[in-house]
Amino acid sequence: MPKAHREQWATRSGFLLAAIGSAVGLGNIWRFPYVAYESGGGAFLVPYLIALLTAGIPLLILSYSIGHRFRASPPVALRRLSRPAEAIGWWQVLISFFIAIYYAVIIAWAVRYAGFSIGQQWGAEPGSFFQESFVGITEAGDFGTYNIGVAVPLVAVWVVVLLLLGFGVRRGIEVANKIFMPLLLLLFGALVVRAVTLEGAGTGLEALFAPDWSALADGSVWVAAYGQIFFSLSIGFGIMITYASYLRRKADLTGTALVAGFANSSFELLAGIGVFSALGFMAVQSGVAVQDVAAGGIGLAFVAFPQIISTMPAGDVFGVLFFVSLVVAGLSSLISIVQVVVGAVQDRFGVGRVPAVAVVGGATAVVSIVLFPAGQGLFLLDTIDHWINQYGIALASLVLVVVVAWALRALPSLQRYTDAISSVPLRGWWIAALGVITPVVLGFMMYDSLKAEFSAPYEDYPQWFLNAAGWGVAGGVIVVSVLLTAVLWKRDVGTAEDDLERERQESAAGRAAGEGDV
Ligand code: ALA
Repeated sequence: MPKAHREQWATRSGFLLAAIGSAVGLGNIWRFPYVAYESGGGAFLVPYLIALLTAGIPLLILSYSIGHRFRASPPVALRRLSRPAEAIGWWQVLISFFIAIYYAVIIAWAVRYAGFSIGQQWGAEPGSFFQESFVGITEAGDFGTYNIGVAVPLVAVWVVVLLLLGFGVRRGIEVANKIFMPLLLLLFGALVVRAVTLEGAGTGLEALFAPDWSALADGSVWVAAYGQIFFSLSIGFGIMITYASYLRRKADLTGTALVAGFANSSFELLAGIGVFSALGFMAVQSGVAVQDVAAGGIGLAFVAFPQIISTMPAGDVFGVLFFVSLVVAGLSSLISIVQVVVGAVQDRFGVGRVPAVAVVGGATAVVSIVLFPAGQGLFLLDTIDHWINQYGIALASLVLVVVVAWALRALPSLQRYTDAISSVPLRGWWIAALGVITPVVLGFMMYDSLKAEFSAPYEDYPQWFLNAAGWGVAGGVIVVSVLLTAVLWKRDVGTAEDDLERERQESAAGRAAGEGDV
């Protein structure tokens, strides 16, 4: 049975907004401000910008180029580049699966906290409220009781995501981002304006931006910069290959990558300004230093921010702005992450969109809903997040650039392909960045993280738990990817040109029969 036409973005701006929507997510709001603060403050901007220019944007362009040239999600696109490379594609798909199952939970918490903001239902002790009353925390490895208060918003998050994906690239993902992105800018913009006008905002901003130049001599600061760029730009987990595969043949790949990359970083800076202004306010109110209130991740969103909201006038509005911003930013990223899994199954097995969303998206949702609302959900989330970032996203990117640049020597031809359709020409810097700088930096990152892993158990969690949820997950996805590639070895996918030719013939036949072009 012939495959249906490949879906396409309706407009260039639709793709751009979706790429920005994917990039701008929880990583921007709750990860960046604290990473920057901890890693040299204002001085962090140096390694951060270098990471953006030497790895972030070059890898973004590489992903666009592979997705667009081979017109498929990662496993098929990379197989078309070279048959064994399909394994790297599946690896990225499985990384996306594991990110999706925990990412959704954080959005669900934010949904609940948007409600809690009205009347500050977390009371006087937001920290113990979050851990004990809300999450019902146990120990790492102890499943604990299943928490309906988390499960209900989590089910709602998944219903929204699967419905949007069910509507397809153009009517679901594109339309959602066209609404979500302006909405996010409006909500978060209002939050930042309020935050910088709070008493103490200057103190917070000083703490964030005061440069500690000595940090630049610390290897782990550079590792943090590259790690932040990868997660934040959504590279290394197949999203950008997938999204670019829905572009029309004529597309400005480099121009779009530059705009998406800088838009994402601008939002990140905006988030840093908003978050640290608010932290400065709280420090001044409580008569302590910013360092005593500064936090990142869960501690920032679900402990520090509730305290800030309870302390400030009209805190309810500020709280709703903050948590709804997290939800909107998170949803537009989550749909892109799940689309990698759904699109891979569609492309590799010739399954239609709706069955793929129902079966694969549905299964992803079930795993997420079963595992995470329990008492140990927090530990599971933290451990999977750490391992999938260090030994998933970063390692898969390292393998991808080494294979593409050195084993296949495919960069020059991808460069010619990209230059032929793009506005900003890729000169030698692109090949140098991907062929030399990115592999060296990522290699160092691996060494640095592994050294830390073997010097002490991560967060002092039990070793058996880290073996299962950390090494087990990060290693398991590699093994499964290789097995899938081996099983599918003989099952051909044809070339991108075959697909195009077939589509051309189908359109021509449709026109001849008087049908509209689909
Ligand atoms: N890029 C997304 C984020 O920053 C995944 O959260």
